[in-house]
Amino acid sequence: MSRLTRRCSEPGHRTSVAIRASRGRVAELGSLGNYTRSVQIELLADRPEFVPTLAEWHFREWAYLRPGDSVANRIRLLHERSGRRELPITFVASFGAELLGSAMLIHHEMDTRPQYTPWLAGVFVAPARRQRGIGRALTQHVISEAAARGFSTLYLFTPSVEAFFSHLGWSIVERTRYRDADVTIMSHQVA
Ligand SMILES: CC(C)(COP(=O)(O)OP(=O)(O)OC[C@H]1O[C@@H](n2cnc3c(N)ncnc32)[C@H](O)[C@@H]1OP(=O)(O)O)[C@@H](O)C(=O)NCCC(=O)NCCS
Repeated sequence: MSRLTRRCSEPGHRTSVAIRASRGRVAELGSLGNYTRSVQIELLADRPEFVPTLAEWHFREWAYLRPGDSVANRIRLLHERSGRRELPITFVASFGAELLGSAMLIHHEMDTRPQYTPWLAGVFVAPARRQRGIGRALTQHVISEAAARGFSTLYLFTPSVEAFFSHLGWSIVERTRYRDADVTIMSHQVA
């Protein structure tokens, strides 16, 4: 089983985390001869070259939740969500030039639940890089960024991975329908 462990974090700054891969996965991650790699979590604003790939991933994963969605729309959305200090902010995990995943801290997500704010959104890990702790690290990074901004509770909704977030300590707020999908709204105390 792989692990990714936080090393350091400053609000709004780059975070360096160490990824540990199982013996069989070392070759996939590069040519370094040990099991520890440095994975960066940074602002998308600082890695604009990742926007097209990320837009493609997000479109493929979540287009059904946005009628009329397109990759172009996702590119526009990512640029809109490329804040640095002010929300909305998108964070990206990478290993050198390789994009590994994303997570966002945004004020508004479900238009049917304006009372909940802020939200963790856009948590996505490249399929070939899953089960290595990257999703956990991205989620934890957004929790830390929310805490650094003085928020006390963070929300998310998920149509598919309630079990993943429960495993990370998130609580169920409610289960509901949203845009023709069954979703779970969850929350996490951040301070
Ligand atoms: C859900 C997702 C982000 C998980 O990313 P990941 O990098 O594979 O997750 P991690 O490796 O950090 O997993 C952390 C822990 O959660 C567990 N986990 C991972 N995916 C899980 C799932 N779908 N259900 C339950 N537990 C899960 C892991 O086994 C690990 O457990 P451990 O720490 O006890 O070993 C990834 O599968 C993904 O991008 N899915 C598609 C998009 C999506 O559904 N995003 C969620 C927002 S709606």
